[in-house]
Amino acid sequence: MAKPKLNFCCQHCGTLYPKWTGQCSGCNAWNSIIEEKSEATTSRYQGYAGTESVLTRMEEVTLNDDIRLSSGLQELDRVLGGGIIMGSAILIGGDPGIGKSTILLQTVAHLSEKLKVLYVTGEESLQQITLRARRLSLPEKHLWLLADTHVDTIIAKAQQEKPRILVIDSIQTMYSSLLSSAPGSVGQVRESAMQLVNYAKQTGTALFLIGHVTKEGHLAGPRVLEHMVDTVLYFEGEQDNRYRIIRAVKNRFGAVNELGLFAMTEKGLREVSHPSAIFLSGGTTPIAGSIITATKEGSRPLLVEVQALVDQSHIGNPRRLSVGLESQRLSMLLAILNRHSGISTHSMDVFLNVVGGLQIMETGADLPIIFAILSSLKNRPLPRDLLIFGELGLAGEIRPVASGQERLKEAAKHGFKTAIVPQANAPKKEIAGMRILPVQSVKEAIDRFDEF
Ligand code: TYD
Ligand code: MG
Repeated sequence: MAKPKLNFCCQHCGTLYPKWTGQCSGCNAWNSIIEEKSEATTSRYQGYAGTESVLTRMEEVTLNDDIRLSSGLQELDRVLGGGIIMGSAILIGGDPGIGKSTILLQTVAHLSEKLKVLYVTGEESLQQITLRARRLSLPEKHLWLLADTHVDTIIAKAQQEKPRILVIDSIQTMYSSLLSSAPGSVGQVRESAMQLVNYAKQTGTALFLIGHVTKEGHLAGPRVLEHMVDTVLYFEGEQDNRYRIIRAVKNRFGAVNELGLFAMTEKGLREVSHPSAIFLSGGTTPIAGSIITATKEGSRPLLVEVQALVDQSHIGNPRRLSVGLESQRLSMLLAILNRHSGISTHSMDVFLNVVGGLQIMETGADLPIIFAILSSLKNRPLPRDLLIFGELGLAGEIRPVASGQERLKEAAKHGFKTAIVPQANAPKKEIAGMRILPVQSVKEAIDRFDEF
């Protein structure tokens, strides 16, 4: 056996170093590098059968129809790209207490009526899981449980029992005896996941890995798992909010950035099938700083409220804080506003919030954010039935966004009467009941603002 080699590994991003350093050059984290003993990784997986390596001409490759298995929850199927693919590995990440165990327990308990399912828990006892399942009145007869954290044992048991679906709750608690580092360290997490993914691929078992997230919002350790698995789903949203959002961050079998929407109830997670209005704060009186936009995350348009608060700053370095939107983008928008319309916020604190805990990843929120900032700055509320979307360019131009029509139609369905949109998104045919105000530049948009 090869002599164990010493490796220093960043516990945030998994970058390896030959010696200790204070700051990781991969993710810039300080004091995240610890020493982990590892062994040469070759010749380790020869124990599994069925991996003979042969050269194949592409035309000889036979395709098995991807067998997609419905999870029983349409919203979960949506983020998975249409259902669970047998033999695929799915990582579900999120803050502690957000509902990862709940959603998987619900899903696999129902699936266990058709297929053999093994739920491995390294965190909760069998009693705790059973208590939850009974409270949620889940089918339990054919659901197999295992409380263990030793991957080698888990794989040996799985090889005996041959479950079609294997759930690991959570990957951070697992360890392999091939490594001597502690469970939860990046080396162990990566090693355990690699063995489990290999097992899943070779046996055609669908594998769910649960992963916790650090305070900074990174999958702790499991960041390094993202390229090992086929699908990465990530819980978004705040815990004190009833709604839970699952986003597909990576998917080899479907679209990314697709969202699945759920509500946490006393009966577990319920899917929300008409989600377009859940991100509105619900008030009917106009409020300064609050604007509604239509964003397109994944395949459907969602109406979302963005709120800004602009206030005189009492410190030399005014604050820019944004929740639900990249703060770099906020700084850029403030610079555009200053440069192209002379509206300066350099002595102001600017806070921005997307209602409901959604992360807006697309640029269609630029123009509504500008309006929210102006509305707060001038303390002038805009009507609640006004919809705004559009992307801003650095030259102060307003660019079109994808699926303009769809966004407008969704808004019209919810009774919006006026829409400020990029010129190129203005519909050719009239939309019943909706007045469209196309704009081409920031300057034009601000003139529009003054008309309200
Ligand atoms: P859990 O799935 O244990 O979180 P994770 O595995 O991501 O750490 O979720 C637990 C939270 O969900 C906890 O705060 C209580 C809440 N919850 C409900 O509100 N209703 C329910 O029916 C269940 C099972 C949990
Ligand atoms: Mg859990």
